[in-house]
Amino acid sequence: MQAKAIRITANGGPEVMEFTDVEVRAPGPGEALVRHHAIGLNFIDVYFRTGLYPQPLPAVLGQEGAGVVEAVGEGVSHVRPGDRVAYAGGPNGAYSEARTMPAHVLVKLPDAIGFETAAAMMLQGLTVQYLLRSTYPVKAGQTILFHAAAGGVGLIACQWARALGVELIGTVGSDEKGELARAHGAAHVINYNTEDIVARVREITKGAGVPVVYDSVGKDTFFRSLDCLQPRGLMVSFGNSSGAVEPFTTQELARRGSLYLTRPTLGAYMSTRAELEAMAAELFEMVASGKVKIGVNQTFPLSQAAEAHRALEARRTTGSTVLLP
Ligand SMILES: NC(=O)c1ccc[n+]([C@@H]2O[C@H](COP(=O)([O-])OP(=O)(O)OC[C@H]3O[C@@H](n4cnc5c(N)ncnc54)[C@H](OP(=O)(O)O)[C@@H]3O)[C@@H](O)[C@H]2O)c1
Repeated sequence: MQAKAIRITANGGPEVMEFTDVEVRAPGPGEALVRHHAIGLNFIDVYFRTGLYPQPLPAVLGQEGAGVVEAVGEGVSHVRPGDRVAYAGGPNGAYSEARTMPAHVLVKLPDAIGFETAAAMMLQGLTVQYLLRSTYPVKAGQTILFHAAAGGVGLIACQWARALGVELIGTVGSDEKGELARAHGAAHVINYNTEDIVARVREITKGAGVPVVYDSVGKDTFFRSLDCLQPRGLMVSFGNSSGAVEPFTTQELARRGSLYLTRPTLGAYMSTRAELEAMAAELFEMVASGKVKIGVNQTFPLSQAAEAHRALEARRTTGSTVLLP
């Protein structure tokens, strides 16, 4: 069977993304064929496109989708043809009308969650789940720093933190994005293009600093983030939207007060079926209860995925973005 997909044969800018026909084979043992109704756009797709994260080429991009199972291979029993499903992570290949993929990454969707919402929330929502609940389990009354608070991960984090009684200080690139982060539950916002992040965090925390910083911006904010931490605080460096963090000596952690550093990935927190099911159940519950609302703030036809990448990299998007096959 053939499907339209966005494939790259070389790394580079959005112009390397070709809308073309690809072959979708019948599912083998442990696999399922899924017809996508919506596909999630994530910053990690940019890293795979540019080559910051290497992969064998040619490749179909994309880590996240929602749709209907059309067929399953031998040994697959947790999903069946006709099931509404969604997934995040696993091998690239989501930017396609349909794909054959490992079935173990699929979860069944509750009826209340539509395909666009699902494609917008799986990767970013599961990320917020592990960041706030496992990497550093935040507690009510704490004040934390979370960068890029008006982005896809960011707006979910603002709402989830508020639901847990946590004061989230969110950084943003414009005053309009600041308003959006506040409306989603950020207790404080800092415009990092016009304000001094470290001075503002010290002011808000009355000099104490924060126990944890969640930093997905990377290169541009890394050392300023370390400067915002309390002694023995935890730096969670979970992305590189401004570029990869430069190599540094561990003395940087020592002289700021015995800091901890982690560089987590969703895959490492979701490496078993039991972990995936528990994390997804918690995310679905947050969304079903209305504590976290998923904002699909941009949609693009799958054929226009390159435009979606341009918008994401130019910081023109807020919340989540979905591609429609
Ligand atoms: N490790 C993991 O498990 C994991 C999982 C999911 C996502 N992530 C990371 O989390 C981050 C957010 O992902 P997302 O998909 O939700 O994207 P996003 O936050 O919607 O978009 C990225 C945002 O980063 C900010 N930014 C700061 N400097 C930038 C620059 N030089 N170029 C582009 N953007 C810049 C922009 O917001 P402002 O205009 O407000 O600055 C931009 O809107 C990404 O770094 C991603 O790689 C990591």
